[in-house]
Amino acid sequence: MEERLSNTEKDALGEIGAAQAKDELEQVRIKYLGRKGILARFFKELETVSGEKRPVVGQAINRLKKVLAQSIKQREGELSSKAGKADSLGVDITMPGADPGIGNLHPVTKTLNDICGIFSHMGFAVIEGPEIETEFNNFEALNIPLEHPSRDTFDTFYIDTKNFDTDMEKRRLLRSHTSPVQIRYMQDKVPPFSIVAPGKVFRPDATDASHSFMFYQVEGLVVGKDINFANLKWTLFEFARQYFGTSSKMRFRPHFFPFTEPSAEVDISCMICNGAGCRVCSQSGWLEILGAGMVDPNVFQAVNIDTGLYSGFAFGMGVERIAMLKHGIDDIRLLYENDIRFLKQF
Ligand code: DAH
Repeated sequence: MEERLSNTEKDALGEIGAAQAKDELEQVRIKYLGRKGILARFFKELETVSGEKRPVVGQAINRLKKVLAQSIKQREGELSSKAGKADSLGVDITMPGADPGIGNLHPVTKTLNDICGIFSHMGFAVIEGPEIETEFNNFEALNIPLEHPSRDTFDTFYIDTKNFDTDMEKRRLLRSHTSPVQIRYMQDKVPPFSIVAPGKVFRPDATDASHSFMFYQVEGLVVGKDINFANLKWTLFEFARQYFGTSSKMRFRPHFFPFTEPSAEVDISCMICNGAGCRVCSQSGWLEILGAGMVDPNVFQAVNIDTGLYSGFAFGMGVERIAMLKHGIDDIRLLYENDIRFLKQF
């Protein structure tokens, strides 16, 4: 009988494991554990077993009953989790759904946010001005008179040229830089203040790998008592350290801007070649990222700020340029083509 018991165990476990559906498993259960099942017959047979052997055989049948009941229960669990994977249509509902693609910020937006974030932490207010400006704010107030040669590269998209107004305070154009936000802000504020002004600017430039008729700038302006060139230098060094990292170097080159005196162009060490010289930096090891200087007294006069009392510094940086340097992008057009495969990388 013991041998038959052990054969029964083997058979039953095999059948339980092979059951592919719950009703199949139920048949196996009835066959072995049912009222008239195989185990019931063993119990019946127990009556014929001799007195001293009976408890041992009885225990063996009980053990088998427990083992089978347990393994049926386990198999039942396996089959129901399997069944959960397929609904009535035969669809696997546990499969991950289609990715809706929540998108990401445009690399230029990210760069703008990063730049403004650094200056905000230094205490600068973020101010925006309109993209359509008066000729006065865009040029005259910034010490760029009509006949000034530097106006050529800026001369830009005028609005409504048919009814060309003779009053330059009324003549409107798409701003060619963010510097007019300085004028708007200073017109009705009393120093001290420090602002950054991010935004779009427009120039009559033919599009190529490094030029676009529309791009972004971030303007900076700090005005107060005793503001000096050292303050300007520290501020920009600190910006470069935070944005480009501690190993980046910065240098100032004398330059001319009508709205600042003295003025400088500011370069950072090329992060592609670490200053050794490469194609991106034209073998110089340096890349220009912004213009800066001490606010020209003529600008203060245009907005009625007392030059005897106050001084200030200003800077303006090209945002695409900075994004391109940081990410090693070699063509500005990539930023405007809206190729999702490119934009998704940021
Ligand atoms: N407005 C200049 C440009 O578009 C950039 C600039 C240079 C802004 C020097 C400044 C500055 O505020 O001080 O090229």
